[in-house]
Amino acid sequence: MARPKILVIHGPNLQLLGSRQPEWYGRKDLAAIDRQLRQLAAARGADVTIVQSNHEGKIVELIGGAGRSYQALLINPAAYTHTSVAIRDAIEAAGIPAVEVHLSNIYAREPFRHQSLIAPVCRGQISGLGDTSYRLGLEAAIELAQASRAPSRPVRRKKNVA
Ligand code: DQA
Repeated sequence: MARPKILVIHGPNLQLLGSRQPEWYGRKDLAAIDRQLRQLAAARGADVTIVQSNHEGKIVELIGGAGRSYQALLINPAAYTHTSVAIRDAIEAAGIPAVEVHLSNIYAREPFRHQSLIAPVCRGQISGLGDTSYRLGLEAAIELAQASRAPSRPVRRKKNVA
């Protein structure tokens, strides 16, 4: 089977990881998280493309084209988690499995963070485990990508009986 390809998207302000509210997001910067994801993907025989964007429209366009080149999506939509119908609709339309991740536990924070508009169109969500959320999310995305490409079982035809 060809190597599964996973698109990883980091949403707004995640370029600030390392210095941004370390009490919620930890001290690892985004480059360190990306290195870990690339290492894990290599160990699992998968390819990752990693993009960070602060722009909702850019994220919508990336997801919109993802179905042609990728078999799964791993996304931390960051603040757009709580506001973006456009990203939700893009994921729903993309036709590939998606996994939502958060470094912080969004349910332990301000009430406006308790709702994810994205979660209902994802296969699953991992929240609150720091960079481990990404690691587990990537493991899940790779499995989902492999499952979506697994050849379906051959249809058994009944022998013609005279
Ligand atoms: C976040 C949680 C969001 O509520 C917040 O807006 C972020 C980061 C997280 O990874 O914990 O920017 O997605």
